[in-house]
Amino acid sequence: MVAANWKMNGLRRGGRDLARALAGLKRAADAPACDIVICPPATLLFELRDALQSAGIALGGQDCHSEGMGAHTGDISADMLADCGCSHVILGHSERRMDHGETSKMVCGKVAAALRAGLCAILCVGESEDDREAGTALEVVGEQLRNSLPEAGGSADIVIAYEPVWAIGTGRTPNAGEIGEMHQHIRNLFDALKTGGKSGLRVLYGGSVNAENAGDILSIAGVDGALVGGASLSAEKFWNICAHYGR
Ligand code: 13P
Repeated sequence: MVAANWKMNGLRRGGRDLARALAGLKRAADAPACDIVICPPATLLFELRDALQSAGIALGGQDCHSEGMGAHTGDISADMLADCGCSHVILGHSERRMDHGETSKMVCGKVAAALRAGLCAILCVGESEDDREAGTALEVVGEQLRNSLPEAGGSADIVIAYEPVWAIGTGRTPNAGEIGEMHQHIRNLFDALKTGGKSGLRVLYGGSVNAENAGDILSIAGVDGALVGGASLSAEKFWNICAHYGR
């Protein structure tokens, strides 16, 4: 899976142009063999739905509330995302954990709400630079995962995105050994918490993935795809990342 997180970028015209360009590339005979999910800002979901879905590209939100409906000004429920045509939602992104004080417990409620609405949750976890330097990255990410995962759900409707906070938008990435070790750690923990066996969980890597480093990162054992921020705002750059999955 290669997922695009447009974050708070995109007005209607630019969003439409980008979606059309992606749909055109996907329709080409040599479309890559991976699931592609585009997560634009909420204002563009409905607008881009038809262009993306008609080309077999999935649509995702960037957050949802933990409740189904009610007095929560400014929030969006998982049912609303599903109603707009979303099949996926990014949850627990570090920018939301920081900007909105989202705790793992709150994220857990959101993942549960997403599953109730029939969405696939792309649950983000990742350590800070201080955690990495202190040697506690595995522990911190393990704790986030344990506290963010609801009882419901399994590898069919939950995807984990490992996004080290210090690698987001910085051009820096962990080395291959660090990424491989963390992905294995996440998979082991998920299997222990969920099924007690091999679950087929997909673990994506996110943080400064671009067309140049995607080949190396996506080739690391245990990396099942990418969650792409900045480079997903260009159809060509994003497509070159997806193209790693062959033609
Ligand atoms: P960048 O690819 O811009 O580093 O962002 C990663 C990210 O936060 C995706 O969710």
